[in-house]
Amino acid sequence: MKTQVAIIGSGPSGLLLGQLLQRAGIANIIIERKDPAYILSRIRAGVLEQGMVELLREAGVGARLDEEGLVHDGFELAFDGRCERIDLKHLTQGKTVMVYGQTEVTRDLMQARDAAGGTTLYDADDVQLHDLKTDRPYVTFTRNGESQRVDCDYIAGCDGFHGVSRQSIPADSLKVFERVYPFGWLGVLADTPPVNEELVYANHPRGFALCSMRSPTRTRYYVQVGAEEKVEDWSDERFWNELKTRLPNHLAERLITGPSIEKSIAPLRSFVAEPMQYGQLFLLGDAAHIVPPTGAKGLNLAASDVSTLYRILLKVYREGRTDLLQRYSQICLRRVWKAERFSWWMTSLLHKFPDTDDFSQRIQQTELDYYVGSQAGRQTIAENYVGLPYEAVE
Ligand code: APR
Ligand code: PHB
Repeated sequence: MKTQVAIIGSGPSGLLLGQLLQRAGIANIIIERKDPAYILSRIRAGVLEQGMVELLREAGVGARLDEEGLVHDGFELAFDGRCERIDLKHLTQGKTVMVYGQTEVTRDLMQARDAAGGTTLYDADDVQLHDLKTDRPYVTFTRNGESQRVDCDYIAGCDGFHGVSRQSIPADSLKVFERVYPFGWLGVLADTPPVNEELVYANHPRGFALCSMRSPTRTRYYVQVGAEEKVEDWSDERFWNELKTRLPNHLAERLITGPSIEKSIAPLRSFVAEPMQYGQLFLLGDAAHIVPPTGAKGLNLAASDVSTLYRILLKVYREGRTDLLQRYSQICLRRVWKAERFSWWMTSLLHKFPDTDDFSQRIQQTELDYYVGSQAGRQTIAENYVGLPYEAVE
């Protein structure tokens, strides 16, 4: 098979890039290790920055999002028995975020790809990338017991943190920056009404908690747990009790509990691989970087990488601007590192660390108190939370 852009991975990065390229008439094939049902069973994040919402609209998948997504003008920070609202809209001259599950974004993109007649090769085993430093790279894999090959101009590595793309770059051509946090998030999805109209991020001496949602009838709640904890040890009852303990009283009192429909523990990690390009291979999304979920930036960063590569490829194919390809990594990394910083900062501020003693607990509370007590502090939080601007490609 032959195409212009071979996309490895059918997560949000691969699907969104594929959809934008498809609409621009740039041929692409997605090569994915799993099957569609597996991809749609993954419960992930749920807060979209305005930039990502606009990109999804540009990709022609904004209809259900605009109908069902919940526009949030602010969120709450709970600490020291207080609840402080960050008024995103007011602090950012009108910017907001959209609460809409990543699983739904993926579903919309998969449907749009089917409708547009895009090719996705699912169940591809042993995917390998070849000749990345030449102008004739290609991808090989096995499917239904048969060896297959896709020749292309460029390869988009959208295959997540554990994918083959980043691993195809020689170790001496990549510098990796990493921090693994000594805790995880235990998440529960439940068909219960949200405890609060907006998200609540809570700092508590027993650890962090987050109240989020997917719709007016479906909630997503999290509590920080030890890195070694097992999900089997967390009955629904234990989870709800822990969550209640960590919330301010007025919220704990009105929390409505119910049976969990999904429960899982996710580790927290910061990770960046530099550069995000090797020859004709470009890394996007989780393949290149991971953020702890505290700032809701993972999915949104994937979208800004997609936007950058898409706009570069448009100019490459329409105007012959191959010079721009060398700028991909630099453009992405500037925004990536700012989101890394914000996610690390939110994580540091809101979680209990193994060495959190009384002194550091007071420092955390005071830092929160300082930021919410200052217009500049609130603005700093707000402008990062709604998402820093995408850099123009020209
Ligand atoms: N060959 C082919 N496909 C692969 C391979 C491989 N060797 N390894 C992984 N994949 C597929 C996975 O099965 C998955 O469908 O690549 C896809 C990667 O998707 P994600 O992990 O969702 O990564 P990405 O699309 O970059 O999504 C951005 O942001 O909020 C975060 O983690 C969250 O998934 C989210 C991410
Ligand atoms: C979620 O709804 O899953 C969610 C929301 C905000 C975050 C992280 C996760 O910061």
